[in-house]
Amino acid sequence: MEVIIQKDAATAIDLTARLICDAVQEKKDSVLGLATGRTMENLYANIVKRYENDEVSFSRCATFNLDEYVGLEPDNKQSYRYYMNDLLFNKINIDLEETFLPNGVAADLAKSCQQYEEKIIDKGGIDIQLLGIGNTGHIGFNEPLSSLASRTREKALAPITLEQNGPLFGDLEEMPKRALTMGVGTILDAKKIILLATGKTKASILAKAVEGPITSMISASALQLHPNCVIICDEDAAEELE
Ligand code: F6R
Repeated sequence: MEVIIQKDAATAIDLTARLICDAVQEKKDSVLGLATGRTMENLYANIVKRYENDEVSFSRCATFNLDEYVGLEPDNKQSYRYYMNDLLFNKINIDLEETFLPNGVAADLAKSCQQYEEKIIDKGGIDIQLLGIGNTGHIGFNEPLSSLASRTREKALAPITLEQNGPLFGDLEEMPKRALTMGVGTILDAKKIILLATGKTKASILAKAVEGPITSMISASALQLHPNCVIICDEDAAEELE
C-alpha cells in the first residue's frame, strides 16, 4: 500500500484525476470502478475539465459504481445513478449504456447483485477502482463486520453512515436505510485501487485503516492486502498517520 500525502484537497484531487485520466489514455477501453459522495464531487469536476481540454476520451470505457440505495429510482435526485449522470456521465463522451450501477429497485435484489458480479467479469474485471472512506471505515457501503470476502449484496447502513449522509436528504426519514454494495472481495479483485481521502474528519479512520490491524470492523483495512493500492490524501486527512 502506497500513501501519497498532498498539501491540500485540491492537489490531492488533481493528482487522483490525473492518474485516472492517464490510465484511460493508456488503456482506452478501461473498466473503471467509481464512487460517489462529497469527496468525489470535485474530482469529477476536475475530470470533466480534463475531458473538455481534450486530455482524455472515455468513448471506449465502461464503468461500475460501488453502490446504490435500495428503493430509489434512477431519476430520484438522491440516487447515485442521478449523481453520476449529473456530475460525470452527461458531461463526458462515455456511452451511457456502458455505465453500470447496482439496481436498487430490482424485483429480486439478490439476483440482480449476482448479475452485477457477472457483468463485471463479462467486461474483463475492473482496471481501476476509485474509493472514498466513510466514518465507519466503510468502502462502498461495506459497514463494520462485512466479510472481507463479501460480494455485491444488500447491506443495512450503520447509524454513523445515516448520520454522515442523512443531511443530504434533508429529512433523515427520507434516507433509505439499506443499500446494494459491491463486497470487499469484489473491490479487492480490482487490478488497481485508488482511495481518495480529504479533510480532518477522515484523519482518525484513515489512520486505523492504513496502520491498524486488518479487521472486518474497518472494511478499508482490507486494502492492506491489495498488491496495487494507492491512498491519496491531503495533510488534514493524514494528520493521525504515524
Ligand atoms: C459512495 C461510497 C462511500 C463514500 C464514503 C465517503 O459511493 O462508496 O464509501 O465514498 O461514504 O463519502 P464522502 O466522500 O461523502 O465523505
